[in-house]
Amino acid sequence: MLRSKIGGIGYYVPEKVVTNHDLTKVMDTSDEWIQERTGILERRYGKKHEETTTSMAARASTVAIERAGIQKEEVDFIIFATLSPDYYFPGCGVLLQRELGITNTAAGALDIRNQCSGFLYGLTVGDQFIRTGMYKNVLVVGAEMHSMGLDFTTRGRNVTVIFGDGAGAVVLQPTEEENKGILSTCLHSDGTYAEKLAFINPGAHGGYHAKYLEEPADYGYSDAEYGEMFITQRMIDEGMLFPYMDGPFVFKMAVQKFPEVIIEALDKAGLQKEDLDMVIPHQANLRISQFVQKRLGLRDSQIWNNIQKFGNTTAASVPIALCEAYEAGAVKPGDLVCLAAFGSGFTWGAAVLRW
Ligand code: COA
Repeated sequence: MLRSKIGGIGYYVPEKVVTNHDLTKVMDTSDEWIQERTGILERRYGKKHEETTTSMAARASTVAIERAGIQKEEVDFIIFATLSPDYYFPGCGVLLQRELGITNTAAGALDIRNQCSGFLYGLTVGDQFIRTGMYKNVLVVGAEMHSMGLDFTTRGRNVTVIFGDGAGAVVLQPTEEENKGILSTCLHSDGTYAEKLAFINPGAHGGYHAKYLEEPADYGYSDAEYGEMFITQRMIDEGMLFPYMDGPFVFKMAVQKFPEVIIEALDKAGLQKEDLDMVIPHQANLRISQFVQKRLGLRDSQIWNNIQKFGNTTAASVPIALCEAYEAGAVKPGDLVCLAAFGSGFTWGAAVLRW
């Protein structure tokens, strides 16, 4: 039976370390508040004008491709998950192809817009391409340059302190080895709460979704018959061009969905939580991961947390954490690993794999 395995993995985080203390210089927050609520001590920010979501993805991908033992031209398909793309369009998939110098136009490139669960969605799509025999080397990437689009005033503090920049990548390859590779994947979505964690402006919505909002906003649209909808002066003047998050609501949903989807993915693979060697959760908030750990009865050594030093890197967080665990020898051949994520949409998912 043809399955996909992670043939190579890599990650990259920018050099610049931004501590909680650094953030107190630009907004009303404290190291104590951030540590207590999120577990975060510091995060990394890319170098302005020199680093982007694509450039960081290229660094991570280069390592993954090398470890997969292939040449970059052998990449058949690129799947790129991000919420902070370099351009509104085209997507980062083709920008990464160019950055890596892949001139093989037979390689397709697909962008995924599923925020925190983007990597899990990408992994699942890539897995299907491998299982059907369509492709042999699928590059799945999650990368984010959050620092370019956060509100660095007190108004944005509940969101801004959480996020960091970075990239992670894997190369999926076929395997016929018994009990190896991706054993199961599960994906879910519920659009009911789309605006609970969202970055809606600039956008082409024109106020259409106001019917779903408790408090519809006035975006300052003009009376002009055409255009002038995507971005308005009011959006700029009143700080509507930043992400919004109903933190307590997201928290409640996350602690429910993470354990549920992990158990579901294990079930699907005919396994139980006692079989797990390692859980790599999306690094949303250390308190969420601790809740998941407790709920599943995992020892400290069975769950990987690195949000303390990288913050929440959204689509990049699962591959960064998995790569770090692999490099630390905490994920070894034969280990049963579960990857899981929950985030904006809401969308969530999990994958169970034998390393
Ligand atoms: N520093 C200091 N105070 C802050 C702050 C900051 N960075 N951010 C918010 N606050 C304040 C709020 O203004 C509020 O003050 P008030 O009571 O005077 O109005 C107070 O802290 C509590 O805010 P609240 O949003 O209810 O805090 P919380 O305890 O829920 O913690 C989160 C906020 C964001 C840490 C938490 O809700 C969370 O982690 N949610 C999940 C987020 C997540 O994982 N997102 C990633 C996507 S999966």
